[in-house]
Amino acid sequence: MAETNLLEARGVTKRFGGLTAVSGVDYNIVKGKINAIIGPNGAGKTTFFNLMTGIYKADEGTINFEGKNLIGLRPDQVNGLGVSRTFQNIRLFGNMTAIENVLVGMHKRLNIDMVSTVLRLPVFNKQEDRAHDKALDVLSFVGLGDKLNEISRNLPYGDQRRLEIARALASDPQLILLDEPTAGMNPQESADAMALFRKIRDQRGITVLLIEHDMKVVMGISERIAVLDYGKKIAEGSPEEVRHNPRVVEAYLGRSGTEGAQEGLGLSAAEAVEAALKKAEAEAAAEITSTSEQPNAPSKS
Ligand SMILES: Nc1ncnc2c1ncn2[C@@H]1O[C@H](COP(=O)(O)OP(=O)(O)O)[C@@H](O)[C@H]1O
Ligand SMILES: [Mg+2]
Repeated sequence: MAETNLLEARGVTKRFGGLTAVSGVDYNIVKGKINAIIGPNGAGKTTFFNLMTGIYKADEGTINFEGKNLIGLRPDQVNGLGVSRTFQNIRLFGNMTAIENVLVGMHKRLNIDMVSTVLRLPVFNKQEDRAHDKALDVLSFVGLGDKLNEISRNLPYGDQRRLEIARALASDPQLILLDEPTAGMNPQESADAMALFRKIRDQRGITVLLIEHDMKVVMGISERIAVLDYGKKIAEGSPEEVRHNPRVVEAYLGRSGTEGAQEGLGLSAAEAVEAALKKAEAEAAAEITSTSEQPNAPSKS
């Protein structure tokens, strides 16, 4: 079956003063797939999300979602077109229950004003019933069906992340963007989260885009991975292709040495050391060639 792009970004650039956080990025989100963007800290991943969701406006380039230009739209307008997201840092109302957190997000979207809420007008009651049903549906879908009335700050960390995902699902998106959704999770929570991402795609048909710092996490479930480094897309392909791409290994090595590559790319200690040695060898070879070329050059004539 031919691949369809749900979102197409071309030449997207965002500068913060003298810093180019995202630099001329071309990127496609493939419909119906689990897509991932990885890269070292500071690579521009979150900024790219913010550009796609109307939080920042790109300085250059185009972003089309189902043929509609997203640049210049507000976050709620982007959401209205079918793009939902979660944030790198959990953003919940800590004192509210799980279901209240989902309903608050929906009220904003459904435009239920305070007057009709207080007066309990029929229009309110009908929408309220529907909102309540929807909230129950998404909360049980993410596995929080038995925690509807728990105060969200008392929920375990993994459940708080699930709650954010439920809130993002409540608007029936076509595309869900998850910014480091497993950050801070223990391995079990992380594995459960992966299963949920797959379920979102398989059972709801929602296209997923994950941002990850740690490639190990995405290896198992992503079908397409793009790698950002210093704001540029340096590689793209299947997890296997990307993991062994020398530019990717170098991006991770460059930041924090062997440990960085080991952590970020999920390499074994031996593989990481080997990659570091290869890189050092390549650098040494490059130096030798450039110095030995010097004396040879003029003798040509
Ligand atoms: N609002 C901002 N103002 C200034 N610099 C920013 C802002 N947001 C991000 N940056 C910078 O842009 C670069 C990319 O950041 P970010 O997109 O958060 O990276 P990542 O999510 O890949 O870790 C970093 O150098 C960061 O400090
Ligand atoms: Mg980030």
